[in-house]
Amino acid sequence: MPSASSTAIAQQLENLREQLREHNYRYYVLDNPSVPDAEYDRLFRQLQQLEQEHPDLITHDSPTQRVGDRPLDAFSQVTHRVPMLSLDNVFNDQELVAFDRRVRDRLKTEDEIEYVCEPKLDGLAVSVLYENGVLVQAATRGDGQTGEDITQNIRTIQSLPLKLHGAGYPSTLEVRGEVFMPRAGFEEMNRRAAEKGEKIFANPRNAAAGSLRQLDARITAQRPLDMYCYGVGFIAGGELAQTHFDNLQLLKTWGLRINAETKLARGAAELQQYHDAMLAKRNQLAYEIDGIVYKVNSLTLQKELGFVSRAPRWATAHKFPAQEEMTELLGVDFQVGRTGALTPVARLAPVFVGGVTVSNATLHNMDEVARMDVRVGDTVIVHRAGDVIPKVVKVVLEKRPEHTQPIHMPAHCPVCGSDIIKPEGEAVARCSGGLYCPAQVKEAIKHFASRKAMDVEGLGDKLVEQLVDQGLIAHVSDLYRLQVEPVAAMERMGQKSAQNLIDALEASKATTLPRFLFALGIRDVGEATALTLAQHFGTLENIRNASEDQLQEAPDVGPIVASRIVEFFGQPHNLEIIRALREAGVHWTEQEPAAREAGALDGKTYVLTGTLTQLTRDEAKDYLQRLGAKVAGSVSKNTDVVVAGEKAGSKLKKADELGIAIIDESAFIQLLRDHGIKHGTEEI
Ligand code: IVH
Repeated sequence: MPSASSTAIAQQLENLREQLREHNYRYYVLDNPSVPDAEYDRLFRQLQQLEQEHPDLITHDSPTQRVGDRPLDAFSQVTHRVPMLSLDNVFNDQELVAFDRRVRDRLKTEDEIEYVCEPKLDGLAVSVLYENGVLVQAATRGDGQTGEDITQNIRTIQSLPLKLHGAGYPSTLEVRGEVFMPRAGFEEMNRRAAEKGEKIFANPRNAAAGSLRQLDARITAQRPLDMYCYGVGFIAGGELAQTHFDNLQLLKTWGLRINAETKLARGAAELQQYHDAMLAKRNQLAYEIDGIVYKVNSLTLQKELGFVSRAPRWATAHKFPAQEEMTELLGVDFQVGRTGALTPVARLAPVFVGGVTVSNATLHNMDEVARMDVRVGDTVIVHRAGDVIPKVVKVVLEKRPEHTQPIHMPAHCPVCGSDIIKPEGEAVARCSGGLYCPAQVKEAIKHFASRKAMDVEGLGDKLVEQLVDQGLIAHVSDLYRLQVEPVAAMERMGQKSAQNLIDALEASKATTLPRFLFALGIRDVGEATALTLAQHFGTLENIRNASEDQLQEAPDVGPIVASRIVEFFGQPHNLEIIRALREAGVHWTEQEPAAREAGALDGKTYVLTGTLTQLTRDEAKDYLQRLGAKVAGSVSKNTDVVVAGEKAGSKLKKADELGIAIIDESAFIQLLRDHGIKHGTEEI
């Protein structure tokens, strides 16, 4: 006889389990959780703790008992009480119409047939058996008659109930469905595996299959598997509904997940419509599907139609065009992207995949080439999904011929001839041509002209594209050679806007060393680093001549940035462009750092707020930094002075609260004047 208190604890345990099951049901099946995750976790831990204190009261269907702690030696066999069939396929509109025709002929009716349309998930068919609502066994399809017992692994799928929800289910209920891996989980899993140098799966289906085949359920538990139910197998001790659709709804009330895209349709035309809509949606779904399954809805009609060999006459799969095909790798070219990144591109024997003929596919980068061990002459698997760039995902090693050639990265940029550089530990190799490389030139010019760089007013991205496409400029230095007439002749331009552009270019020539440095677009040299470098070295010449070690003496410059700078100035093309820019009149004031007076505001932190009327925020920042001050974005107790322009808001209030010195614009301008700062041509 259990003691009164142990009965009470058993009650409490069951109560916690019921709450957790209800939350799971709302979360996974209804997609409408009623408590935050933290509350669920709290209940879960509470249950775990109580079970730890009373191990004799742990039940096999408790939500804490998903993962077994002993690996199997082998899978045992399970004989399916109702065979697990496969499906016939149709591949196009005519074949679909013919399927519907055959169904109606056999049923001797001209009435439209009602079908259930379901996405055909690309995973693995499984059978899951519930006895009195408790999950007791799960098996793979195997050959349709006998499969493997994968109960341990199936139990780890969080969205599948260990105990059915609600009531009214048959005492023996075998459900059928598809186990799959959602795309996001698949990608995350591969990313982690790659990081650890472990095996990568070619697609979510293989990953799902590999995960279900684990003898150690602790491994399966770490894989993001999911399952949708799409039918029932053997049942006893209860009844189901009269139609397939209603049965799916019943399964749902019992806590089993049904695909939300499942729809009813009448006649072949509606089936085709559903197919087309899903095909269009295919790549937006969270999981991969390889077609649609149509099933006659009425179970009476299903029975009447029966089976042929191993497939039902009442259902068919409408297959989508394959997204993966095999073909031969004929060669590899290297493409230079807008940031100089070098991409190996596979030249393929043309192959029809994902609905188009593909003869080029990306190989991503040299690390991927090495990982896949792909060689010219290999047979490879090409994947093309939607409008995404086709990619080579795998080599079919069994088909490797004798004389394959390894793929080598070129030493020089195929577009501009500059050195190719691949920093250790990075996957991407890059052309070091930067400003000089035509492949990179548009991005380089856009950056050069941008507000925080040379600040050429009116020279936006579109105009840069147009100027390069028209052949009016090829390098940043060409900007300063532009003439009004050819610019005015361009589409959507005119005399006036052309003149404005030339004037803006002229005005941009007077710049500062930090802006110029930033404008050069040296990788990893952002606005802040450019400023540090300018302050530390004083002149461009000093920066150019500095060694990596010397560069690292500047605050916040580490080995990577230092190496990028040395690399940049080591390229003759870049020096040529700098020379051309200076010849065109780009200038700034330089000061040897030794000659620089100790900044009047060294060590002071300023914050700018509100609108300044006589100078821009950027100019004010420039001037303050020139005097040695730090300019911070927000007010804190470390702020020394707040410059408050018009309509200053919360920063001003905070400064006031903290008792920080506040000056207005005229006091600020006076301060600049006192330290000899000139604005434009006039002293402010
Ligand atoms: S019904 C008698 N429905 O497709 C009906 N199968 O080619 C048997 N599949 O082995 C299956 N989604 O792995 C059905 N909504 C769905 C499905 C589906 C994917 C798979 C399943 C089956 C294969 C048949």
